[in-house]
Amino acid sequence: MLPRFGLALLLAGLGSVPSLAQEASLASVVTFDTVCLQCHEGECSGRLALRTEKNPEGVANHVKGYAGAQSTSTVLELKALIAGLKRDCRLPPPPVALPPDGRWTPAMLSALTLPDQTRLFVPLGVLAPGNQRLSLASAGGAARVRVQVLAQNFDIVVDEEAALNPGGTVAWRADESSTYFLRLMAKTPLGAVSVSNQSVAK
Ligand code: HEC
Repeated sequence: MLPRFGLALLLAGLGSVPSLAQEASLASVVTFDTVCLQCHEGECSGRLALRTEKNPEGVANHVKGYAGAQSTSTVLELKALIAGLKRDCRLPPPPVALPPDGRWTPAMLSALTLPDQTRLFVPLGVLAPGNQRLSLASAGGAARVRVQVLAQNFDIVVDEEAALNPGGTVAWRADESSTYFLRLMAKTPLGAVSVSNQSVAK
């Protein structure tokens, strides 16, 4: 009870944030991880301080510029996620269960995709150090895609182009035991994407 109460007070003090960061909707977390994090990831531990405090309208316009027009409650959720990032120094994982076999179907990925379908963000789970093989496929979407794999501490361990439609693979290496995440980005809709990551025996 006490920490939640304290946090609520703190957030109220920072300016009208009605919900706690962990209550952000899945859609807001996906927008945050695919779009906002790209510039704001340096803001934890004061590694980078973007000092300009914007008024609520300014924040809404700023968000609109990068993620399209959003409802007031979504803008507040995104602001709370920024506050959480500064406080916790870790990216907010999309609140979804991982498939036990590591295979994400288009139906599972649709909730992890932006409404305009150009980006998606997928938790790959906790991986032990070792070689990994990422398989991508899409029906009816972009032919190629920018692939980023991020560790929990924001380190980008993969940033490269790969074939998506009909399919492609990316070989990569997990250097340390961490939770990893996949970000896919394209200029045109990704289509019905399937993703699977498997650890590869040496
Ligand atoms: C291309 C880089 C970029 C992207 C993408 C971006 N921002 Fe920002 N943001 C900035 C910069 C630079 C500032 C500080 C200067 C200013 O106020 O414009 C800032 C300031 C802010 C501020 C006020 C200062 C603070 O740290 O509290 C908020 C809130 C914010 N951004 C939220 C977001 C959200 C939410 C998203 C995702 C929809 C987002 N930003 C996407 C670059 C970006």
